Amino acid sequence: MNVKGLIAAGGEATRLGELTRVVNKHLLPVGGWPMIYYPLQLLQLAGVHDVLIVTGQGHAGQLIDLLGDGRMPRRGSEEPLFDLDLTYKVQVEAGGIAQVVGMAETFVGADKLVVCLGDNIFEYAEVAAIRAFVEGDDGAAVFVKDVPDPERFGVVVYGDEGRVTDVVEKAGVVDMRYDAPPSSDAVVGLYCYDDGVFDLIRDLRPSSRGELEITDVNRHYAERGTLAAHRVTGWWEDAGTQESLPEIGALIARTGVNKVA
Ligand code: G1P
Repeated sequence: MNVKGLIAAGGEATRLGELTRVVNKHLLPVGGWPMIYYPLQLLQLAGVHDVLIVTGQGHAGQLIDLLGDGRMPRRGSEEPLFDLDLTYKVQVEAGGIAQVVGMAETFVGADKLVVCLGDNIFEYAEVAAIRAFVEGDDGAAVFVKDVPDPERFGVVVYGDEGRVTDVVEKAGVVDMRYDAPPSSDAVVGLYCYDDGVFDLIRDLRPSSRGELEITDVNRHYAERGTLAAHRVTGWWEDAGTQESLPEIGALIARTGVNKVA
């Protein structure tokens, strides 16, 4: 089975304050690299070669300046850093992660798709789980991590046999069916889909925050019993705030990043 990759690298990143007036969030330094190198490396390690990057109108040029066609050596050396085939698409108005995934339809065709949010960084590249999904049956797979602040995320609900039966986005804020998160297993920004995802996205309606929610997509798979949930190995960080950038850099220096178990 062939697989394509998608990196969502749009958004205004207002939580990063003065840092993102001009620069795309995904180009800010984290450790020794621009942030977007980490999800690109994760996809490369998982064997995903063709990657679509979706970004906002004001930022596409910067990303292309940095990454070009996806074949680049380490600076000042011949050693390859990335050997990818990159495609770019511009999202003119931000409308949610599911909208970004929908933009990949013609790019993906009948292949499978691995989606990574451009600001999510992982200690382990989750290569085995991604490869197993690509080689396995149709359906979808998400990755979860137990967090102390589940109200900030989408969380999964488990049924009797440990299967995911529901996914709840920011309980009490976006998803009003619950006042508080029904579990502390947050869905992180790494998702795997079969090509049926595009039909689902076509039928989605915007949530209470006006976005097409990736959580609603994942719930459809959960309701059909075709959503696998893998626990993230090691740490996972969403590099969304100013304070988090140096901390994640220090974490990467201490433990390594995108490790292959
Ligand atoms: C998004 C998803 C949420 C997920 C989170 C991971 O949240 O909607 O389900 O848990 O990414 O970073 P957002 O960044 O839109 O608040």
